[in-house]
Amino acid sequence: MVQHYDNISQEYKKSKELPVRLHIEKFTYFNMLGDLTGKSILDLACGEGFYTRKFKQKGASLVVGVDISEKMVELARQEEAKQQLDIEYIVGDVLELGKIGSFDLVVASYLLNYAQTKEQLLKMCGNIFTNLKLGGRFVTLNNNSEQSPSSYLTTEKYGFIKSISKPLQEGTAIQYTFFVDGNKFSFDNYYLSKDTYQWAFQSVGFKDICWQKPQVSPEGIKEFGQEFWQDFLDCEPLIGIECFKY
Ligand SMILES: C[S@@+](CC[C@H](N)C(=O)[O-])C[C@H]1O[C@@H](n2cnc3c(N)ncnc32)[C@H](O)[C@@H]1O
Repeated sequence: MVQHYDNISQEYKKSKELPVRLHIEKFTYFNMLGDLTGKSILDLACGEGFYTRKFKQKGASLVVGVDISEKMVELARQEEAKQQLDIEYIVGDVLELGKIGSFDLVVASYLLNYAQTKEQLLKMCGNIFTNLKLGGRFVTLNNNSEQSPSSYLTTEKYGFIKSISKPLQEGTAIQYTFFVDGNKFSFDNYYLSKDTYQWAFQSVGFKDICWQKPQVSPEGIKEFGQEFWQDFLDCEPLIGIECFKY
């Protein structure tokens, strides 16, 4: 089956240059991740390796990236050939991953929002849990299920909007549209409630589940002003989550 990201891999890579990616997404993610020195990291839904490379550059000892899209992994491997960071990239479906190692950290930016049912979410969470060592941590960025659809268009000035064609309920598709350099492209995520996420984390054995609101970097405030970011902070289109395996 041709994966959707196979068709938008270049455009998606380009969208990583939007200011909102740098000043909110990346800032929030790395605040949660903390010091990566010497850590072994499994990056699920690694895409073209934007963050995967950063983990290695920030001192991780071992980094493995997994993504279902062959094209995304191809782009990641092309960068690896240029930069030689010693990152292994695997084409694979997190739903079917099983145990491939025992990592200090399993991370994922925008993976869980591809689960269309609570059963799929449970399966993904099980495969995440199983690849963590005892004392390990899962850190993720995700679509924020709690964002009100009434604010889905207010993020246009940051370069993306969301839309739905039916009311939010378990499994409803949420279409993301990005606007980058005068072009636009779209892909779907799926809505599952925060309670379903909480249930899935707890069911597989995760403890101390923390939900992290998006934050703006001081550089972002300096460059664009607090007022520019306020709509994003008010509607919270993304959410960070971390949980532990004890
Ligand atoms: C929004 S992109 C995020 C890529 C990267 N994590 C980032 O932040 O730049 C979502 C990625 O999830 C991948 N993906 C979706 N479902 C997946 C699954 N079941 N297993 C592995 N990867 C999946 C897609 O191919 C795509 O590369």
